[in-house]
Amino acid sequence: MYEAGEDSFLIGKYIKKFSKGKVLEIGCGSGYLMEIALSKTKNVKGVDIDKESVEFCRKKGLDVSYSDLFSNVKGKFDVIIFNPPYLPQEEPFLKRNVRERKNLDIIGGKRGYEVIERFFKDVKDFLKEKGEILILFSSLTNKEKVDSIIKENNFKFELLEEKSVGLMEKLYVYRCYRKR
Ligand SMILES: C[S@@+](CC[C@H](N)C(=O)[O-])C[C@H]1O[C@@H](n2cnc3c(N)ncnc32)[C@H](O)[C@@H]1O
Repeated sequence: MYEAGEDSFLIGKYIKKFSKGKVLEIGCGSGYLMEIALSKTKNVKGVDIDKESVEFCRKKGLDVSYSDLFSNVKGKFDVIIFNPPYLPQEEPFLKRNVRERKNLDIIGGKRGYEVIERFFKDVKDFLKEKGEILILFSSLTNKEKVDSIIKENNFKFELLEEKSVGLMEKLYVYRCYRKR
């Protein structure tokens, strides 16, 4: 199970600020971000592909189900949160972290953006007309590619924060809306 880290703390600030109405978190891990959202609204649902995370969150009383992205999600939400696995498989200096954590937690695919691409293909069916997405990724994910995935799926984005982590990486937090 993914233990909340620097990425979780960064997007957490904006979850506190923007959570409202019906909230869905994809990839809820330990439930850290769901608990922040619950401090703003009572209606917070989470899903994760990792069964251990689902069990852990349920024991804490959180409303969490097993799902591969939206495969087991029903309904439409005001806010959808995703701190995805966003690192590419082939990043030599990350080998140590990769061994320490399970791949599904942090590896977004061969190039890093594949899970994000799948997410943006499906998310519109689960977002209310004026709904918003809060998502985080890294400079190692390929920012240009992520920006183009968002635009191709008819969303626009606002960069909420950019933060350097270590010498070689930056994290980005985006708020995304439907293009109107
Ligand atoms: C970077 S961790 C974030 C965990 C937690 N939200 C946090 O911020 O601390 C990514 C989470 O996404 C989950 N995940 C990865 N691929 C997924 C998928 N296809 N569908 C649902 N959850 C997924 C992982 O199991 C992991 O819990």
